[in-house]
Amino acid sequence: MTPVLASTLSPSAYWYLARGTGAVSLVLLTAAVVLGILGSVRFTAPRWPRFAIDAVHRDVSLLVIVVLIIHIVTSVLDGFAPITLLDGIFPFVSGYRPLWLGLGTLSFDLLLAIAITSLVRRRLGYSAWRAVHWLAYASWPVAVLHGLGTGSDVKQWWMLALTAACIVAVLLAVWTRIARVSGEYAGLRGPATALAVVTPIGLAIFTLAGPLRTGWAARAGTPQSLLGHTAAVPPVGSSGASGSSGSLRSTGSSSSTVLGNSFSSNLVGNVTQTQAPGGAIVDLTMNVSGQVHGQLRVRLGGVPIDGGGGLSMTGSQIDLAVAGQPAVLQGRIVSLRGEEFDARVAEGDGTTLNIHAQLQIDTNNNTVTGTLSGAPA
Ligand code: HEM
Repeated sequence: MTPVLASTLSPSAYWYLARGTGAVSLVLLTAAVVLGILGSVRFTAPRWPRFAIDAVHRDVSLLVIVVLIIHIVTSVLDGFAPITLLDGIFPFVSGYRPLWLGLGTLSFDLLLAIAITSLVRRRLGYSAWRAVHWLAYASWPVAVLHGLGTGSDVKQWWMLALTAACIVAVLLAVWTRIARVSGEYAGLRGPATALAVVTPIGLAIFTLAGPLRTGWAARAGTPQSLLGHTAAVPPVGSSGASGSSGSLRSTGSSSSTVLGNSFSSNLVGNVTQTQAPGGAIVDLTMNVSGQVHGQLRVRLGGVPIDGGGGLSMTGSQIDLAVAGQPAVLQGRIVSLRGEEFDARVAEGDGTTLNIHAQLQIDTNNNTVTGTLSGAPA
């Protein structure tokens, strides 16, 4: 199994889909909540009679569930993080970021309850249906927290802008709703206003103090196997093992202490090759030890070379999780020669590395050993 010839990349389609459908679900859920509120306050406009708003609200809500199912399935299929289908049904049981992933699951379960009770609304009776429907107000901020707490793109300006736009849209709708509260619900105006003010402030504080700070991946509950070892890792260039900056629990660790200099490490792991129509996918999962500790995952897609037993690469994805580094560095192979490759990996805060790996692949045992060296780009 000798991959040859570097070409273009195509990082895991599942990962892109999970991220894309996450962002789309948030936008659709926001639209469904806003349309639901507009319907309930009898909002009309010349080209938007109430029945049209109600119909769009229903269709968008069903679409949210379809997109969410794709979001959950692609998160499971991506395979990098240990997420199972059960994690998409039962909240807070996942081995991967249990709280933040669990909030997504909770929100999804609430939406399912809303959808199912809406389907049997006639048999259920209006007041019971309405009581369940109010859960929509809870499912939305819970979903926002999930996206902020577990999303890969939370540090990107566009994801923050998208989330902020969703928050503003829902706030405007909720304040319109509160202003029109009357009759038996008039007493709820005070608490609802307080909640509508406190929620966005709370979300902003959480984002600044949590996901936007370094070390969030470890604090959020990412398994050690994805981050590296818990033992303190000496910063590159230091002689002792006492440096606390390498500890995954250390929120003060930064890229300059862990990956600020050239390093070299050893690789040990295993290889799997999966045949796919028109090609094959090779996955190499390796533990990194030496001057840096962590895990390196390489995924290559390619077409078999006639008679050569090798693979002509058509795409690649690299994930490098390093102890002491707050987020996984990701990138692609830029040059591949036999069992040796050069790659460039980066993470959201701007840390970019050029890495070089020299591998020995044992096709009989499906194992791989080798060396990894890297330097700041
Ligand atoms: C109402 C329900 C949900 C909504 C609105 C939602 C929305 C989102 C959003 C906005 C993101 C951030 C995407 C990014 O940063 O690019 C995200 C990430 C993620 N969600 Fe959900 N989600 C929901 C439920 C779930 C459930 C039930 C699962 C369970 C498997 C799940 C798994 C994930 C994962 C694994 C990520 C991280 C993907 C990445 O690497 O960015 N989500 N979700």
